[in-house]
Amino acid sequence: MRISVIGCGYLGAVHASAMAELGHDVVGIDVDAAKIAQLAIGKPPFFEPGLPEVLRKAVNSGRLHFSTDIADAAGSQVHFIAVGTPQKPGSYSADLRYVDASIESLIPHLADGDLVVGKSTVPVGTAARLAELIAAGSGASLAWNPEFLREGFAVQDTISPDRLVYGVAPGAPGEHAVKLLNEIYATALAADTPLVITDYATAELVKVAANAFLATKISFINAMAEIAEVTGADVTQLADAIGYDGRIGRRFLGAGVGFGGGCLPKDIRAFTARAEELGRGESVAFLKEIDKINLRRRQRVVDLTTKALGNTVYNAKVAVLGLSFKPHSDDVRDSPALDVAVQLRGLGAEVVATDPEAIANSRARHPQLQYEESLENTLRGADAVVLVTEWPEFRHLDPVWAGSLVKTKTVIDGRNALDAAVWRAAGWTYHGLGRP
Ligand code: UDX
Repeated sequence: MRISVIGCGYLGAVHASAMAELGHDVVGIDVDAAKIAQLAIGKPPFFEPGLPEVLRKAVNSGRLHFSTDIADAAGSQVHFIAVGTPQKPGSYSADLRYVDASIESLIPHLADGDLVVGKSTVPVGTAARLAELIAAGSGASLAWNPEFLREGFAVQDTISPDRLVYGVAPGAPGEHAVKLLNEIYATALAADTPLVITDYATAELVKVAANAFLATKISFINAMAEIAEVTGADVTQLADAIGYDGRIGRRFLGAGVGFGGGCLPKDIRAFTARAEELGRGESVAFLKEIDKINLRRRQRVVDLTTKALGNTVYNAKVAVLGLSFKPHSDDVRDSPALDVAVQLRGLGAEVVATDPEAIANSRARHPQLQYEESLENTLRGADAVVLVTEWPEFRHLDPVWAGSLVKTKTVIDGRNALDAAVWRAAGWTYHGLGRP
């Protein structure tokens, strides 16, 4: 199948590469010439495990091309829309300008029978509006096929998704869409991947509901951490114990500095904004509380650090371990780790931060912080160590070695990633989140 993928960011670049890996002929299109130039020579413009291999293989095979010209979408039968829907400045709603612009620029290049497939996360109702635009300007139709990939596992999640959702129009156009999508995802379907075929609104809602649920799960356990902090209980044991209940499950019950990234925070905000527009604000009003709990955890890490340093961080050297919003990613969008580093710097600390992959992105946003590639140099002479992204190299840090480098053996474990007993035995003052 000939496919175009419009938008080559974290989602689109992976999708385009994965589709070529599955045997399709793909053109990836983006307005960012620098990004396209890199992708065209097989180099991902961001860190994503497994992507360099799949991308290079696809480019070398001749099945994957890149372009900055939307006219190169012509000739493809299916056109995936994978552009970003960030939070609108000064508002909670999603900014749809990139989705709208990509559809408008694509319409003149669509042929009869083509299928446009939305992958971007959008407010419910967007697909119906776009379907009308496409029908008015071409002989093509629209389907909505939300993406559930996790950064760090994006290639695997795209090639072997845990489910497929097609939001399609009623009647013959919907049947045509299902047929094309089934061809595209033939490999996953042959492996018995569950498929749910819905209308547009349901498909759009599936994505935001899934992210709202995950955010709720994380903030639930972080709320329990707040209670644990005033009662002396241990939230990590609590999570283990409730997680054994199959109805609850242990995944996404990791208490700590909370969620960030390009999806969860902005998606729950856009959901509340859309629900309010629909006159159902109260139905998801709890998501505002979820957001507040989440943001309080960042403050908690800053407060714990301040307290540990004798109620002021001024002029103290704080070693910050982690900058990306989660391990195995260089993404610092709404990263709790970077936020904590910036807040501590704002309070007058001498922050030295390190991360295996996210230094360049962090420096571009916050040049005022001091960055160190080497863990050893980051730790040397520190008055306190703050772990905020649980990369394996931080999780497995040797407390004896680290203790020989720092000035004061104080650690704030913002991800509950360290073995408190082992660190204490090595002479450290250990502070976790929601655990004694
Ligand atoms: C998320 C969804 O998981 C994915 O399905 C969707 O398509 C996009 O948004 P992603 O943003 O890549 O994916 O990250 P995810 O693994 O969900 O983690 C989100 C945030 O939650 C991270 O900051 C992570 O550190 C945090 N988190 C996760 C916790 O604080 N505790 C947990 O137990 C799990």
